[in-house]
Amino acid sequence: MNTDLGIDIFKASSFLSADELVAIPTETVYGLAGNALSESAVSKIYSAKNRPSFNPLILHVSGIDQLSKYAFIDTISSLLAKEFMPGPLTLLLPKKSIVPDITTAGSNKVALRVPNHPVCLELLNTVGFPLAAPSANLSGYISPTTATHVLHGLGGKIAYILDGGTATVGLESTICEVVNNQLLLHRTGGISADELQRISGLEIVQANQQKNIETPGQLKSHYAPITPLYRGEIADLIGLNSGKKIACISFQQTYDGVENFVLSANGNLAEAANRVFATLRLIDAGNFDLIVTEFFPNEGIGPAINDRLGRAQFLYK
Ligand code: TXA
Ligand code: MG
Repeated sequence: MNTDLGIDIFKASSFLSADELVAIPTETVYGLAGNALSESAVSKIYSAKNRPSFNPLILHVSGIDQLSKYAFIDTISSLLAKEFMPGPLTLLLPKKSIVPDITTAGSNKVALRVPNHPVCLELLNTVGFPLAAPSANLSGYISPTTATHVLHGLGGKIAYILDGGTATVGLESTICEVVNNQLLLHRTGGISADELQRISGLEIVQANQQKNIETPGQLKSHYAPITPLYRGEIADLIGLNSGKKIACISFQQTYDGVENFVLSANGNLAEAANRVFATLRLIDAGNFDLIVTEFFPNEGIGPAINDRLGRAQFLYK
C-alpha cells in the first residue's frame, strides 16, 4: 500500500470513512486511527501494528459532550473531564453497547480521551465518528512524536499520515479510573497524580499494585529501543563501560567520554519529556553500544519520564 503524508483533513476523513487507517497528530504522541465503531477498521489497526488482540484501544472523541454516547460517566470522572479535557488524560469507564467488543478487546470498560490538538479535533468533527487509536508505532517500539517517525514504522502499511507537526507533550496520556472511591492510576502521563488528586479529592492508587485490575498494554518492556539502555548513576555507568560507544541521556548535565543528549539544559521537565522518545529514536539510528541514563526528578511529568525510561531498560535475558 502506498502511504501518503500531508495536511489534507478531507483526504484523511475520506480514508477513515472507507474503513482505511490514517495516522493522526495529537498533543501526546501520533495515533494510528480507524473508525472505532467499525469492526473491519479496528481489526486493521491490530494487524498494522502487530498488536496483540487482548490489548484494547483508546477512543478519541471531539469533546466532553461525546463521552456519554460511549460510556456511563460518574460524577468524579465528569469533574476530571471538565478540568482536563481536551488534554492528555484518558478516562476508563463502563462502556455502552455501541462500542464494539473488538475495540475494547472484550472488556466491558472503554478508555476515552479528547485530544488537545487543533488538527485532530477538526478531523474528529469532520468524520463524525470516534477514532480508535493506539500510538502509531509497531507494537513494542518507541511511540512516535513526529509524522516522520510514523512513516519509518508504518510506511507501506497505512493509507495516509496527517502531519500536525511535532507533538507538544511528547509522552502518552495519563490513564485513570474511579473505583470504590479511589482513583486508580493505570498509566502516568501528561496529567500528574497531584493534579488528579486536587480535582477529584480521591486517594490515588497505582493500578499495578492491584492484583485483579490490569491495563493490558502496560507490559514491562513496552517502549524499548534496540540499543540496550541502563539507568542509574551516570558517572558509575560510564566507568563500568569504558571503551564502548556510549549515548548519555541526562536531564541537565554533560559528561566526558560519551555523546551527550541533554534533555533540558535549564531543568524544564516538560521540555525533557517532549524530547525523550525522539532522542531514543535518534540514538537507535546512531550505532551506539549502549545508552546510559538517570532518574529524573519525581515531580510534574517527571514520574512519566521515569516510567517510560524504566520500560526502555535492557532486561537481562
Ligand atoms: O496519549 C495517548 O494515550 C496515545 C494517543 C495516540 O492518544 N495513545 C496511546 O494508546 O498511548 P496505546 O494503545 O499505545 O496505549 C493505550 C493504553 C494501553 O496500555 C491499553 O492497554 C490501555 O491504554 N487501554 C485502552 N483501553 C483499555 C481498556 N478498555 N481497559 C484497560 N486498558 C485499556
Ligand atoms: Mg503505545
